[in-house]
Amino acid sequence: MSYIERIKQGADALRERKVVRILAIESSCDETAAAVIENGRGVLSDVVYSQIDLHTLYGGVVPEIASRAHVEEVGPVVRRALSEAGIGFADIDAVAVTAGPGLVGALLVGVSYAKGLAFALDKPLVAVNHIEGHICANYLTYAALKPPFLCLVVSGGHSHLMQVEVGDSYRLIGCTQDDAAGEAFDKAARVLGLPYPGGPRLDAIAEEGDALRFSLPTPHTQGRFDYSFSGLKTAFINLTHQMKQRGEALPVADLTACFRHAVVEQLVDRAMLAAGELGETRLALAGGVAANKLLRRRLQAACDERGITLYLPELKYCGDNAAMIGAAAYLRLMHGQVADMRLNANPALRLV
Ligand code: KG4
Ligand code: ZN
Repeated sequence: MSYIERIKQGADALRERKVVRILAIESSCDETAAAVIENGRGVLSDVVYSQIDLHTLYGGVVPEIASRAHVEEVGPVVRRALSEAGIGFADIDAVAVTAGPGLVGALLVGVSYAKGLAFALDKPLVAVNHIEGHICANYLTYAALKPPFLCLVVSGGHSHLMQVEVGDSYRLIGCTQDDAAGEAFDKAARVLGLPYPGGPRLDAIAEEGDALRFSLPTPHTQGRFDYSFSGLKTAFINLTHQMKQRGEALPVADLTACFRHAVVEQLVDRAMLAAGELGETRLALAGGVAANKLLRRRLQAACDERGITLYLPELKYCGDNAAMIGAAAYLRLMHGQVADMRLNANPALRLV
C-alpha cells in the first residue's frame, strides 16, 4: 500500500478516535512556532520563537534572514513543543503545517520539515491556510464556539470580513481595496520613526494621545463592507510632513491616537453594518491587529449596544502561533482533508 493510501485510511480512523493529538508547525513570516493540540481545542504546548530582534535592525522582515532563522529554529522549537506537552514523536496522530499565504522561503521551511516528519512517522500530513488558522484561534479561547458567526480578520496582510458557515466553510463579504490594517499601522509607525514592529508600539503610544486633535479622511469604498486604508495613510504622511517642514516637534502621542482612531472606526463601522444587514448576532475578531487595545474596546462597546456577542481571542493567540494552526488542522482532518508528499508552499494561497 502506498504512503497516501495508508495515510488516508489512518486519517479516516482518526475521525473515530476520542483523543487526537496534532503537532502543528507555523513558519509563514517571522515567527517559528510549534504546538501540540488535543481535539482541536486543548493546547498541550505552544512554543513561539520570535525573530523580531533579527529584523529590527532593518526596520522590517528580511525574507532571506527569516528563512535561515526558520531552518535553524524549527527543529529545536518542535522538540520543545513535544517536551512541554510531555509526549514524544510516537504519540502524535498527525502533523500539520501552514502552507500559505506568507513568505515563500519561510513557508518552505515549515512545509519541508512537516513533510519529512509525517513521512518518517508514517502519519497524516495536514495543510493549513494561515488565515483559517487566525480564525480558529478563537476556538482555543472559546471551547464552545461553533459556526455560524461573522469574523473580522485583521493582520499584516489581510483585512477581511468573513462569514464562518456551518461545515467550517468561509464566505468573504468584505475586504480591503488596498492596504491591510496591520500594514497601515506599520507604515504610519514608520513615518513617525517608531521601530519595527510598528503596530504594537503605535498602539501603546496612542493610549496617551488625544484622538480628536487632527481629523483624518473617511474613505469611500466600492462595496459597503469593504475597507480602504491607503488614502488615510497618505493624509497622515502629508500631515506629518507639513509639521516637519514647519520645523514643529511631532506630537507623536496625538498623531498615533488620531491614526489609530481612524483605522479602528472604519473597522468597527463596517463590521457593525455587516452584522446589522446580515442579521449576525455573533462576531469574532482574528489576526495580529486583534491585539489592538482600542479595537477591542470599541468593538466590545459597539457589540454591547447592539446585543451582539463578541469573541476576542486571548492576546497570545492574536499574533502568529502554531496553536491556531493545530486548531484549524483538526477541522481539516475531521473533514477528511489530508495532504500528500506533493504539498508545496503557496505564498498566495486563498481561503475563499
Ligand atoms: O497576524 P500577524 O501576526 O501576521 C500576519 O499574518 O500578517 O499580524 C501582524 C500585524 C503587523 O502588521 C503588526 O504591526 C500588527 O499585526 N499588530 C498590531 C498590534 N499588534 C500587532 N497592530 C495594531 N495594534 C496592535 N496592538
Ligand atoms: Zn498571521
